[in-house]
Amino acid sequence: MRRPFIAGNWKMHKTTVEALELADGLKAALADVESMDLAVCPPASALGVVSDVLAGSNIMVGAQNMHWENSGAYTGEISPVMVRGLATCVIIGHSERREYFGETDATVNKKLKAALAHDLVPIVCIGESLEQNEAGETVSFVGGQIRGAFEGIPAVDAQRVVLAYEPIWAIGTGRTAMPEDADRTIREAIRDVLRDLYDNPTAEAIRVQYGGSVKPDNMADFIVMPEIDGALVGGASLKVEDFAGIVKNAAAALQK
Ligand code: PGA
Repeated sequence: MRRPFIAGNWKMHKTTVEALELADGLKAALADVESMDLAVCPPASALGVVSDVLAGSNIMVGAQNMHWENSGAYTGEISPVMVRGLATCVIIGHSERREYFGETDATVNKKLKAALAHDLVPIVCIGESLEQNEAGETVSFVGGQIRGAFEGIPAVDAQRVVLAYEPIWAIGTGRTAMPEDADRTIREAIRDVLRDLYDNPTAEAIRVQYGGSVKPDNMADFIVMPEIDGALVGGASLKVEDFAGIVKNAAAALQK
């Protein structure tokens, strides 16, 4: 049984003061949730205050990105060692990082290895564009992203990876994938490829979140899908009531 995992990606939102307020609100609203893992990923500037507020709570803290080197002349970057002091998770290879900041499957692979070496929980994002989707290339493209991300990573480490399948055309658009389509893509482009790279137990152990316009009123439709183990939430993670609504609706749907 894979333990469900819902994470909020705050992207480039929230000043330190606003982040503190949101973290405080979520801590209170979600204190009784035991059936799943939870995380919030504030901008790097707020990792310190948010990790202070959430220390000892049931909500983990994650960074949205990091470099793969421990230190060095990389202006503007933060390293795995720095993240490790403030967070337990790290998002790697979000489609916005790939599109606007030149990240590739090769940099994702380096970051993933660094995250695993530093005992961080990596949330690796993969997903196809609208053009690729319409051209029927989803399975081959996402499968290629998976092969690139996991290159040279042994099975024992691979099991610690969390994947977020986020069709790019569903991110921030209000247009979600059909839950059945997302489920099929995860099976064919992710689990089948992981089974090929590793073995059945490894493929079945790795958690896969869905991401792309997840809201309180559609979360249940995704979480009940056999291959979907949670969500990576952008816009709807910025308000206490929305993120708490997503988590509670997921928990209720799983209890049925
Ligand atoms: P969204 O973003 O929920 O606003 O669509 C998801 C993501 O980018 O992780």
